[in-house]
Amino acid sequence: MMGLLLLRSLSVVCLIYISSFLTLCFAGDPFVYYDWDVSYITAAPLGVKQQVIAINKKFPGPIVNVTTNNNVVVNVTNNLDEELLITWNGIQHRRNSWQDGVLGTNCPIPTSWNWTYQFQVKDQIGSFSYFPSTNFQRAAGGYGGIIVNNRDVIAVPFGTPDGDFTIMIGDWYNRNHSDLRKTLNGGKDLGMPDGVLINGKGPYRYNTTLVPDGIDYETFNVHPGKTYRIRMHNVGISTSLNFRIQSHNMLLAETEGSYTVQQNYTNLDIHVGQSYSFLITMDQNASTDYYVVASARFVNETIWRRVTGVAILKYSNSKGAASGPLPDAPNDVYDKTFSMNQARSIRLNTSAGAARPNPQGSFKYGSINVTDVYILKNKPAMMINGKRRTTLSGISYVNPDTPLRLADWFKVKGVYTLDFPNQPLTGAPRMGTSVINGTYRGFMEIILQNNDTSVQTYHMDGYAFFVVGMDFGEWTNSSRGTYNKWDGVSRCSIQVFPGAWTAILVSLDNVGLWNLRTQNLDTWYLGQEVYVKVVNPESTNKTELPIPDNALFCGALKNKQQPPHKPKSVSSSPTEGRSRMLLTMLMLVFSVFC
Ligand SMILES: *[C@@H]1O[C@H](CO)[C@@H](O)[C@H](O)[C@H]1NC(C)=O
Ligand SMILES: *[C@@H]1O[C@H](CO)[C@@H](O)[C@H](O)[C@H]1NC(C)=O
Ligand SMILES: *[C@@H]1O[C@H](CO)[C@@H](O)[C@H](O)[C@H]1NC(C)=O
Ligand SMILES: *[C@@H]1O[C@H](CO)[C@@H](O)[C@H](O)[C@H]1NC(C)=O
Ligand SMILES: *[C@@H]1O[C@H](CO)[C@@H](O)[C@H](O)[C@H]1NC(C)=O
Ligand SMILES: *[C@@H]1O[C@H](CO)[C@@H](O)[C@H](O)[C@H]1NC(C)=O
Ligand SMILES: *[C@@H]1O[C@H](CO)[C@@H](O)[C@H](O)[C@H]1NC(C)=O
Ligand SMILES: *[C@@H]1O[C@H](CO)[C@@H](O)[C@H](O)[C@H]1NC(C)=O
Ligand SMILES: *[C@@H]1O[C@H](CO)[C@@H](O)[C@H](O)[C@H]1NC(C)=O
Ligand SMILES: *[C@@H]1O[C@H](CO)[C@@H](O)[C@H](O)[C@H]1NC(C)=O
Ligand SMILES: *[C@@H]1O[C@H](CO)[C@@H](O)[C@H](O)[C@H]1NC(C)=O
Ligand SMILES: *[C@@H]1O[C@H](CO)[C@@H](O)[C@H](O)[C@H]1NC(C)=O
Repeated sequence: MMGLLLLRSLSVVCLIYISSFLTLCFAGDPFVYYDWDVSYITAAPLGVKQQVIAINKKFPGPIVNVTTNNNVVVNVTNNLDEELLITWNGIQHRRNSWQDGVLGTNCPIPTSWNWTYQFQVKDQIGSFSYFPSTNFQRAAGGYGGIIVNNRDVIAVPFGTPDGDFTIMIGDWYNRNHSDLRKTLNGGKDLGMPDGVLINGKGPYRYNTTLVPDGIDYETFNVHPGKTYRIRMHNVGISTSLNFRIQSHNMLLAETEGSYTVQQNYTNLDIHVGQSYSFLITMDQNASTDYYVVASARFVNETIWRRVTGVAILKYSNSKGAASGPLPDAPNDVYDKTFSMNQARSIRLNTSAGAARPNPQGSFKYGSINVTDVYILKNKPAMMINGKRRTTLSGISYVNPDTPLRLADWFKVKGVYTLDFPNQPLTGAPRMGTSVINGTYRGFMEIILQNNDTSVQTYHMDGYAFFVVGMDFGEWTNSSRGTYNKWDGVSRCSIQVFPGAWTAILVSLDNVGLWNLRTQNLDTWYLGQEVYVKVVNPESTNKTELPIPDNALFCGALKNKQQPPHKPKSVSSSPTEGRSRMLLTMLMLVFSVFC
């Protein structure tokens, strides 16, 4: 009896010792771990069986739910039959483009290998998404939501919602991603998608002619009177979608890491790659369930009717199924003015704090002098060297075999040129690996001019930028007179309407090599992207982290790659050494006391 008690108290002492050691050891920001198996599953979201990319057998993948400043560790095992990279859309990876998961910064993870991403969500809040960044894989899934919660000490500009839904919407083809890739490689368009998925599921059978029987649809279960936060992400290929919930107002609250001025919308256009948070109050009388709709935008309804996602909002006191026609989409098929005005109405809540207590408006971007101006102009796909390609400013980006950032670190020459033009080239378009030379701590103005016939969403990795203006026609110097210099929203992806421009301002304070791309998967795949290189001219180790110990090698550096099954050589990195020493001490303590 006594012995048992003694043993117990000893093990309590032991636990206290261990936990105090752990606190000492990991007093910094907490770590959050994920283990992901990326593999194919068979699914039939639109009634046709096909190969879909799942994470831990789930499609969409699990939500990465973390808090400002957390260290996120994601161990990805690639069980696909081709190489894989996951990118964390909107996560800024401060000082750490090594973890960005695009071909300019990382070698892809080979089939049946595992690779561990480790990054900090430093000074960020908000709703983002992740997805595979190469090989057109996003068209087959592999995507999911990211939530970065506020730290407890920082107020959120709305009451705590009664629930939190992540909704992934996107156009979808019944053809698999290798087929779609083949179509594009063959110089053809993908054609009309087969439908729109909501959380990986097909439409509710609102019309028995249009929707076949036996399709699994998404249901959102809610309680009357409660308010829910909905985090919307368009993770599709190329279709702009209009999102609406029958009879309910959507109070816009956040977009891609910024709190917005809170306004009600009855419907909102969400372009490919964009994310929004709404607050929705269940203020209806539940006479029936309600339709949740995501329908294709700027198309002929008669032809595109089947490209509509429909889910169900079900009150716990619902008196019956939803029926009748879907709530109307905006009625302006060929006029994009309504949509542009809606985009302009989304503004920054300047008085709310976000990841830090100081108000979002305290960074007075409107009074900072611009140091570099780039006009990036895209054109419809055209033939270059016998291939159908897309361009930005006359250059169609080609991914070299050696990632740009690795080439720089190991001083491999000739991988790319640092000569991307400030103005679109006027001569014949060309293929190339031309990079923008960003000025560290500069303030860059980028004008995105869309000469194509469809909406393109541009995204910049590593940064959030201020959206200061958009209009139809060609941008000119005098367009600056229309800029919003006060409450333009700060976000990481913005649409550019066809025949129109969008202007953004970005403060280049994050050292690294950062991808600037269209999120539309087809035009991205064909070359509509560029990288921005931001180098601190001062020689210091403080503004960029060193290459991670587990970096993969390929291209000109492939001889550096150790086969994965070999034990890793003992690292001399100081942090690893320290944690190893602490582990040894812990084990000593353990063996003495237990
Ligand atoms: C995210 O994690 C927090 C706890 O940190 C939890 O309260 C919340 O319900 C989670 N949200 C989701 C959508 O899982
Ligand atoms: C990652 O997962 C793989 C497969 O489950 C496992 O073998 C490996 O040890 C894990 N690596 C790390 C660093 O956790
Ligand atoms: C996962 O990666 C580690 C480190 O590269 C390696 O030692 C291990 O064998 C890998 N495991 C699998 C299942 O690939
Ligand atoms: C894709 O579909 C084609 C037939 O359309 C098939 O031959 C091929 O095996 C499929 N590939 C994958 C990865 O599912
Ligand atoms: C269902 O869709 C078809 C084809 O668009 C249409 O003709 C029909 O009126 C619709 N039925 C109902 C009940 O709305
Ligand atoms: C938004 O609409 C709801 C009703 O759905 C209303 O109660 C609320 O006051 C509106 N908020 C704003 C800011 O307009
Ligand atoms: C409440 O439900 C009834 C049917 O039960 C319907 O006719 C009425 O329009 C509804 N009222 C509101 C405010 O939604
Ligand atoms: C939409 O397509 C239908 C069928 O092809 C056609 O009759 C109609 O005129 C088109 N509508 C518009 C607005 O172009
Ligand atoms: C911006 O430039 C103007 C003149 O070129 C100068 O007077 C002003 O001080 C500069 N503002 C800042 C914030 O550097
Ligand atoms: C890139 O810009 C820096 C200044 O920010 C300049 O010193 C350097 O010469 C430029 N490099 C090239 C190749 O233009
Ligand atoms: C594309 O550019 C040409 C030449 O500047 C112009 O005539 C045409 O209207 C533009 N088209 C669009 C859709 O912007
Ligand atoms: C940066 O770190 C490397 C290796 O850790 C070291 O060799 C180098 O001297 C450091 N450079 C500076 C400027 O501190």
